[in-house]
Amino acid sequence: MLAVVPPPVTVRVPAKVNLHLSVGDAREDGYHELTTIFQALSLTDEVTVAVSEEPGVEVHGEGEKSVPTGPENLAWRAVCALAEYAERPADADGIRVVLRKGIPVAGGMAGGSADAAATLLGLSTLWRLDLARDELAGIAATLGSDVPFALYGGTALGTGRGEQLVPVLSRHTFHWVLAFDQRGLSTPKVFGELDRLREAGDPPRVGSHAPVVEALASGDPRQLALLLGNDLQAAAVSLRPGLRRTLRAGVNAGALAGTVSGSGPTCAFLCTGAESALEVAAELSGAGVCRTVRVAHGPVPGARLVGGDDTP
Ligand code: C5P
Repeated sequence: MLAVVPPPVTVRVPAKVNLHLSVGDAREDGYHELTTIFQALSLTDEVTVAVSEEPGVEVHGEGEKSVPTGPENLAWRAVCALAEYAERPADADGIRVVLRKGIPVAGGMAGGSADAAATLLGLSTLWRLDLARDELAGIAATLGSDVPFALYGGTALGTGRGEQLVPVLSRHTFHWVLAFDQRGLSTPKVFGELDRLREAGDPPRVGSHAPVVEALASGDPRQLALLLGNDLQAAAVSLRPGLRRTLRAGVNAGALAGTVSGSGPTCAFLCTGAESALEVAAELSGAGVCRTVRVAHGPVPGARLVGGDDTP
């Protein structure tokens, strides 16, 4: 009897921007206690998982050459984690993961985490495991602090390492311009630099997240723009001083405000609307302060199956 090979499954998964990121002290496990507000953006990766005679990871698109394809790849680690959870040997099935990247690599937009989240959803569908999103989020949290958010998307308050999530009301669409830098930044290095800056002095800290939650509910981008804040920004700028110029250029181009996204170096600029975002993007492209410029809107949903190929 012929074995039935399930059709490949493709998942689209969003990048995130941190509208607010308050970093506490380093914990004993090396992580920092965070309070953050994530928003999922329309900048996405597409991840296809398939049964294959050539198991492994393949990467195309944005930053493809700098993504490792070995066992350290976070999407591959997601395959192994789900296989272990489902008590199913990963390599026995021969799983191939194809990443089509739109999210910058090591850009502070959780691209690797997004790929891991998409792989969990895709593979659980391929294997017909019928797991609830909350169950997948439990596995996601073991892979990285930002992986659970990529499963849920929308706008959410994250605490702990960033993995404990509560949805935040945000019915309005916000328009963003994203400036990708020439090279990525290592997240552990940026956290380490913040620790160093705090030992040496007292860099300013962002305030409470409560006004950000109110601004999101109001839907007024001008109100939200005044409240964007990221404790990691000083550390990212310290490691990559050119970001100061990028941040200034975005505001000079007409954005309401700019912030370093997560640990950077991507800068995210909030605009008054879709049209303004296109104008800001055009002007910023010509300013020579970054590698590439993209427009995006948020919030958008988390990891989702791409129509059709999840059905047998
Ligand atoms: O959880 P994830 O693997 O994405 O984190 C990458 C690195 O970022 C960690 O190894 C740690 O150095 C740093 N980090 C942190 N505190 C957090 C999240 C990440 O120090 N809450």
